[in-house]
Amino acid sequence: MIDVLIIGSGGAGLSAALNAKKYNTKVLVISKTYPTHSQTCQAQGGINAVLKENHQDSLENYFNDTYEASHKLGNKKNIEQFCNSSKETIEWLDSIGVPFSRDEEGKIAQRKFGGTKAKRTCYSSDYTGLKILHTLYDQCIKNEIEFLNEHLLLNLIVENNKIEGITVLDILNSEVKKIEAKTVILATGGYAGIYHNFTTNSFATTGDGISAAFRAGAKLSNMEFIQFHPTALENKNILISESARGEGGYLIDEKGNRFIDELKPRDEVARAIYKKHHNKEKIYLDLRHLGIEKINEVMPQERRLVYDFMKLKMEEDLIPINPSAHYTMGGVLTNINGESSIENLYACGECSQSGIHGANRLGGNSLLEIITFGKITGKNAAKKALSIKNKSTNLNNQFEKDKKRIETLFNKESDYDFYKTKKELGKLFFNNVGLFREEKKLTKALEYIYKKENELDLMGIEDKSRTYNKNLVELLEFQNLIQLSEVIIKSALTREESRGAHYRVDFADEKESFDKNSVSIFKEGKIVHYFEDIL
Ligand code: FUM
Repeated sequence: MIDVLIIGSGGAGLSAALNAKKYNTKVLVISKTYPTHSQTCQAQGGINAVLKENHQDSLENYFNDTYEASHKLGNKKNIEQFCNSSKETIEWLDSIGVPFSRDEEGKIAQRKFGGTKAKRTCYSSDYTGLKILHTLYDQCIKNEIEFLNEHLLLNLIVENNKIEGITVLDILNSEVKKIEAKTVILATGGYAGIYHNFTTNSFATTGDGISAAFRAGAKLSNMEFIQFHPTALENKNILISESARGEGGYLIDEKGNRFIDELKPRDEVARAIYKKHHNKEKIYLDLRHLGIEKINEVMPQERRLVYDFMKLKMEEDLIPINPSAHYTMGGVLTNINGESSIENLYACGECSQSGIHGANRLGGNSLLEIITFGKITGKNAAKKALSIKNKSTNLNNQFEKDKKRIETLFNKESDYDFYKTKKELGKLFFNNVGLFREEKKLTKALEYIYKKENELDLMGIEDKSRTYNKNLVELLEFQNLIQLSEVIIKSALTREESRGAHYRVDFADEKESFDKNSVSIFKEGKIVHYFEDIL
């Protein structure tokens, strides 16, 4: 039997796998795509760490910046451990071969990111996430980690609040399978895909793990907090890394004036840009003064993207940008050990709410989080699995239900165009559940979701082929998004205040009474929502 079953093969999943394997356990990584296709690559600009305490930076500064950005929703103990182990985390990545950029002395180079006064972000040109991901995958191959690719998570099987296994769809032939495991780690990424066409994320970011955990009874937390990255290419939503501003880029309006400190936290910069757009002004990223040599050295990927998608040259042209949904702070609530509210179910990375980011994440903290908590969950799940001796469970109920659901979809005729709904949902979320929120708009969005929930049974697939049926996969992913939409909107409605990335026009202040995590649980077919103290 599998000891540690990891769902998701981005940076968090691969770190967990490598660390679980150290304990001589049977590890399997399941992915709906392939190990190097992950949102981890979108963290282009870097990974934070205090490598040396001196007059420029300290662990105390790092803690304070992270906690301040969280707007009191970060868990102090978790943040402390996260910051304190940052040096060790970078040293581990360095030791396994991540090609970090170096300074003149040959030390790992660090750049400035938003929400901090120090140069704290280690980087590999502007390919940091990608280089980390590829290095981790190389290590997984070297350590003979087993992979099962192109399998989509359908459901978690939980008995008496204990995880027993999962059901998956084999995308190659549309077969439903069941997999038994002693422990399961979710590393399935976030849910920014809801903002379809208004997000830097890939189409695959559909919150599958969070949605399955929710259906199985796990606590979700802080689902209302969604980060907009200030600089995506206008109307294309291709990310232009924060490193562009960290290296000295300006944000300017149509008259050529700078209108905000470019390195304020992302929520503030994104709102300032949105306001200008609302007044029909265009906003540009201006990097011309940096010169081609520097641009080629520190942001070659971004230069290439700007040229490929806009036919503009960074060293000569102004680059029109807009804010774009980039990262979701909410997810499966976990403690410092990566444990969820379901026994033997762990979560790490963007699908978790691990008490680090709170209401707003600092740029460069997502990569550190996936590695830090990938390592923690891998180790803890492995140790737990080794302590479980005999296990005999019946996975058949859920397996039969899921087989029936897939067969029904193949047998049903439907002309319901869920792709149209997906586009509508993206636009609705950007306008009504976006950077500026208010009761009226949120309620309208919720009414839309209720309507769509009632239409779920009408949705079907046009393509009836059993081989690589993308139509089927996309429908299942979309249904996950619809389920999470209700949770997000209800969380946003009940948080009657403004805090970090959650800005309510009708409740513009931060309120002490909301210094709490929002929690959502699925009980007897209904969403139960409440606020909980930060432990
Ligand atoms: O702007 C960026 O390079 C993104 C980094 C991040 O999301 O941490």
